Amino acid sequence: MSKADTTKQQALAKALEWAAQQPAWWHDSGNLNPAVLEAIGNYAMRINASATAETGCGLSTVVLSAIVDSHTCFTVAAGNSLAQVQNVALLRLDRVNFVIGPSQLTLPNHSFARPLDLTLIDGPHGFPFAHMEYFYFYQKIRRGGILVVDDIHIPTIRQLYDVLRDDKMWAHLEDVMTTAFFQRTEAPMFDPYGDGWERQQFNQRHFHCPETMDGYAPGWRESMPAAPGPLLGASLEQVGTFRSMQDERLKIENAQLRAENAALRSSTSWRITAPLRALFKIVKRA
Ligand SMILES: C[S@@+](CC[C@H](N)C(=O)[O-])C[C@H]1O[C@@H](n2cnc3c(N)ncnc32)[C@H](O)[C@@H]1O
Repeated sequence: MSKADTTKQQALAKALEWAAQQPAWWHDSGNLNPAVLEAIGNYAMRINASATAETGCGLSTVVLSAIVDSHTCFTVAAGNSLAQVQNVALLRLDRVNFVIGPSQLTLPNHSFARPLDLTLIDGPHGFPFAHMEYFYFYQKIRRGGILVVDDIHIPTIRQLYDVLRDDKMWAHLEDVMTTAFFQRTEAPMFDPYGDGWERQQFNQRHFHCPETMDGYAPGWRESMPAAPGPLLGASLEQVGTFRSMQDERLKIENAQLRAENAALRSSTSWRITAPLRALFKIVKRA
């Protein structure tokens, strides 16, 4: 391993260690889980990422800034995530370009100086915002680059996930909890300014009438790989593993919240205010 790689590994380890020590709601939009941050960091290292981008900000911003040369972060100033991130001593501010404003407005107007090695979609989660972000990101991700999509348990984001898992441009690497990891294949880029729905594998596979599809895309059946897995709306049995991953994440988050609440209750301020509250209740009743 080169000296530069060792330095990066050390910086990543330090950032991940710091991130793992933060409470579950370190910022008010909810942090990525340490296991997901670790996967992001490891994939970035594996592909030697130097230019990255994300929507939303938080622990991921600090972690990516530790290991890449240039990171673009599209986020809003509402809430406290931006302020929290900008106050972290570990943040490599010199490597991060914060593009402030709704990604719905900033992303379409942004021009990236070079292709992106890794992007994370974790900003606004309502439909069709993640899809819109995907539209602007996919054109910029280099072959071999990584696309990370968080919150695939949200039904509309799950739809995006279902399509990407069945798209020739992407190899589905893995899901870590409710975050999906894809790698850009060698397949040609889908023309962002044309149409071509009938060439998309997901549409071919799920078109209501396969015989009609034969007319739209002759030979589609021969190149069709095995189905990547159950779709949104599949039976509970089919999605069993996925659901248990979600339950695991909730269990961890609930345990963290319970621990934080317990710590709060035993803090000095609670001990002082609790008797006053009790007294206030008695006075109120009388
Ligand atoms: C779930 S958090 C991101 C968590 C972060 N990846 C982490 O590791 O902690 C969602 C982020 O999206 C930002 N956000 C919400 N609406 C947005 C919008 N319209 N455009 C850009 N960012 C937005 C929030 O301020 C927040 O920083």
